[in-house]
Amino acid sequence: AYDAGPLVPDGTGLAGLRAAAAGCRGCPLYRDATQTVFGSGDASARVVLVGEQPGDQEDRQGKPFVGPAGRVLMRALDEAGIDPALTCITNAVKHFKFEWDARGKRRIHKAPSLHEVAACKPWLTAELRLIDPEVVIALGATAGKALLGGSFRVTRERGTLLTLPLEGDSGPPLVATIHPSAVLRADDRETAYQGLLADLRVAAKALR
Ligand code: URA
Repeated sequence: AYDAGPLVPDGTGLAGLRAAAAGCRGCPLYRDATQTVFGSGDASARVVLVGEQPGDQEDRQGKPFVGPAGRVLMRALDEAGIDPALTCITNAVKHFKFEWDARGKRRIHKAPSLHEVAACKPWLTAELRLIDPEVVIALGATAGKALLGGSFRVTRERGTLLTLPLEGDSGPPLVATIHPSAVLRADDRETAYQGLLADLRVAAKALR
């Protein structure tokens, strides 16, 4: 099975993890992507936000949530009273998965498989262990499944205080919500956005 686990160094900080992840060959996604997009922020972050995978812009720039979905997320964080300086933003999968459109011009996002999510999980676990945040926010179904297991359903569990299971001990509070790109795709964007915001406010209350 694909597994980044053997590539994750022990006893390093986030910079060491990031450097090791840059050369990850834990699954085949590195072949077509431009680069690994590791989490932003530093180990003092009090909130970790987990998305799905980098998109086209993130793949080019090497930073998470710098495209359209990121703009929605930043606005919602601000409105929910979560200071971006307190956050680390990362993804369940750290390489962009895509296929070319028929004309070979645009790279169309493809959802990562469960195997790819599982292969990448050791990076996410290592980030969460190092940062030890006060609250974790799962953005969308892929992040929710990566963190809570395959039976997670975002429509059922969003906006409630859950607990992140971490091997060996029980982890910090976790709040799941929709992915910010679902706001951009929604027929009623305003209602979808208000839902995202309400869920982020639940997470904001979990901050000490
Ligand atoms: N969507 C994600 O899930 N992650 C990103 O980094 C960008 C868009």
